Amino acid sequence: MDTLKNLPVKSTSPTTILAIETSCDETSLAILECRGGLKSPRFKVVENIITSQIPIHRPFGGVVPNLAKREHMKNLPILWEQISKRHKLSAISHIAVTVGPGLEPALWTGIEFAKTKSKELDIPLIGANHMEGHLYSNWLPKKGKLPRIPFPAIGLVVSGGHTILLHMTAIEKWTVLGETLDDAAGEAFDKVARLLKLPYPGGPEIQKSAERGNPNAIPFPRPTLQQKNYAFSFSGLKTAVLYYLRDNPKTKKSDIAASFQEAVVDVLAKKTERATQEYKIKTILLCGGVSANKPLRERLAHTAKKLKTKFFVPDLEFNTDNAAMIGAAAYIQLLQKKNLPIEANGSLSL
Ligand code: KG4
Ligand code: ZN
Repeated sequence: MDTLKNLPVKSTSPTTILAIETSCDETSLAILECRGGLKSPRFKVVENIITSQIPIHRPFGGVVPNLAKREHMKNLPILWEQISKRHKLSAISHIAVTVGPGLEPALWTGIEFAKTKSKELDIPLIGANHMEGHLYSNWLPKKGKLPRIPFPAIGLVVSGGHTILLHMTAIEKWTVLGETLDDAAGEAFDKVARLLKLPYPGGPEIQKSAERGNPNAIPFPRPTLQQKNYAFSFSGLKTAVLYYLRDNPKTKKSDIAASFQEAVVDVLAKKTERATQEYKIKTILLCGGVSANKPLRERLAHTAKKLKTKFFVPDLEFNTDNAAMIGAAAYIQLLQKKNLPIEANGSLSL
């Protein structure tokens, strides 16, 4: 199917994308009106409906792929019905769907649904990269205003499965400076929450518990901070929490949560700060599920102020998984006349 040659680059009428996200435990559908070229893409989020499966996976302490698939299959037609009642689908020029990275059974559900709708309505289909979605969520409106993002920029992408530091010279041009060697930041939050007997997902629960704790109570290690590279590693920190709990069972849970959170934030912020100085950066971009973390947002905002750079983080609605960001990634791809194979790729990289 030819999706890429029909894009009206200079037209004033928007390219309207209906996006579908099912890579993990959120089923989400969005409609995005997209305008502008690669230098200044502009997005209007017409709809962004998110159904979270958290209550279903919570008793298992993490996402169960087959349960996620079953829930996506149940939710997708319901969300589609809602969207098609409220909007004229004849205005949609493209359907976009996440093809990876993510849980393959969950990805396939969205892909099969998108393929069926694309055929039924004769609308071209675009495959989008979930991590590009997180990155481009920074170009979505913030408190109703469109961000202006100067380059070069550093992108810190922190989610349940990824921790990536990017050097960007343009919206579509970046190099990966470093990634995690083991657990991702979100994964570390989730695993440490389990050690503390806090429910899934761990990130928000640790943040909540940490509000009552002392971040300097326990000097947990700052893995990789001494290394002059941009790699991350969080599994040693998780093990340090495990041993600390074993040896100090009476310590307040909130002190452990606060000290662990402080260690993660410290490593992420200091590496971002070093990259910002090394590459003479104008903008720091934070994104991915962990970017919902308040102390991390505040710390990077402070770093940016100190270094006189701009700082952007998406509105909370667009931090964790959502389809609006998938629509944005699809549009950036369209502008580059690129398309991804429409097949699930669980380990697709940036
Ligand atoms: O991006 P996301 O929604 O899904 C993936 O692509 O993985 O990120 C989910 C991750 C989970 O590990 C969750 O614990 C973490 O984001 N998270 C947080 C917070 N909210 C979500 N981590 C720390 N603090 C938060 N407030
Ligand atoms: Zn995500």
